[in-house]
Amino acid sequence: MSTIARVRGRRVWDSRARPTVEAEIVLDTGAIGRAIAPAGASTGSGEAVDLRDGGTRLGGHDVTHAVHHVTTEIDAALRGMDIRDQAAIDRRLIELDGTPQKSRLGGNALTAVSMAALHAAAAAARVPLYVHLARGRKLRIPLPEIQILGGGAHADRRVDIQDFLVTCPSASSFAEAMERTGEVYLAAGRLMRERGHAYGIADEGGWWPAFDTNEEALDLLMRAIESAGYTPGQEVHIALDIAASEFGRDGRYKLGLEGRELDRDGMAELLMGWIERYPILSVEDPFAEDDPDGFCRFTAAVGGRVQVIGDDFLVTNAARIAKAAASRLANCVLIKPNQAGTITETLAALEAARTAGFAAIVSARSGETEDTTIVDLAVGWNAGQIKVGSIARGERTAKWNALIRLEETLAGEATFAGWSALPGSPAPAGAPESQAT
Ligand code: PGA
Ligand code: ZN
Repeated sequence: MSTIARVRGRRVWDSRARPTVEAEIVLDTGAIGRAIAPAGASTGSGEAVDLRDGGTRLGGHDVTHAVHHVTTEIDAALRGMDIRDQAAIDRRLIELDGTPQKSRLGGNALTAVSMAALHAAAAAARVPLYVHLARGRKLRIPLPEIQILGGGAHADRRVDIQDFLVTCPSASSFAEAMERTGEVYLAAGRLMRERGHAYGIADEGGWWPAFDTNEEALDLLMRAIESAGYTPGQEVHIALDIAASEFGRDGRYKLGLEGRELDRDGMAELLMGWIERYPILSVEDPFAEDDPDGFCRFTAAVGGRVQVIGDDFLVTNAARIAKAAASRLANCVLIKPNQAGTITETLAALEAARTAGFAAIVSARSGETEDTTIVDLAVGWNAGQIKVGSIARGERTAKWNALIRLEETLAGEATFAGWSALPGSPAPAGAPESQAT
């Protein structure tokens, strides 16, 4: 048995030049586990709290308190614990924090420590993390959803919609899905340059959205797919993250770019019109987190042919997902470890999604680092899908390239999820059971 000898916190930096928390766990054997917490910009109000110092230094984003909590209280509480018992470690973190949304010690502190514990356990077992998590289950390489154009809170609200993405379930491998996406990304850049609209990239690496309407972005995406030599709806499909909580409240949706406000029905009409006209396979957060009615009606109308994803509303929370399942509010859930705050709660959310018959997408945040823990979670837990932002920027390619390597390593053992990852397909063999480790 290996036990925790020491937990250390460290301030490191994320892709938005903001500080974030790294945790390092050293075991009595000398084995080490290390992980970094990511950070969202379009966060749900029910998420674990990302503890920031406030004040003026570094725009108020510093994390000295969260880092201090890791090195003092958390270190003292976890010393001597069995590294194999992730559930007990996470329980102790939750009890030590003592608040409903981890606001005392910080969701960022807890996320980093919980993920570091997982890495330390894999190091102690001398296996890659995804193997440690899979426990002999059959694995799939996840289907990626990849951003081509950024927007919303990740691009100064230059367009209202947050993510214009592509997904390639008809690809025969992950590597092929990446190649198609790369072609579309480069074609989109070419087309934007031709229009004199190549202004760089947004927070997650997608092209900066210089458009006069949201629909113009969709049209450009269609032309990029065609110009890359693909047929939209065959080799390449479209996915959207509306992130409607960012511009919707009390059933009213303010499209700032187009200077108009829609009610719930108007919003549904707009999105259903897009689904009719464009090969859209997946829509995330089509309504705001305070609008479950909008979600339910939308899922009833299109859930049979489109993946309807809950992110801000479901916040990787098992109880919320179970409730959403009972009211058929969505058919897919985003799984973000730092929304939950611990690995055990993240796995519980994924299990709740399985029980509900929902599909699941393990997801990065808009503020990311070179940390690739979510790749191991997606593969080891057989989540089926993964979303990491665009195909540009190092904090994104760190994850994609890790998956390229894994697909190669697992050739013959793991298949590419493709269509099987989408809602309505039979439950994958080897869904996770009840323990993180
Ligand atoms: P966030 O964006 O990390 O800023 O929340 C990602 C998403 O909404 O999916
Ligand atoms: Zn989202």
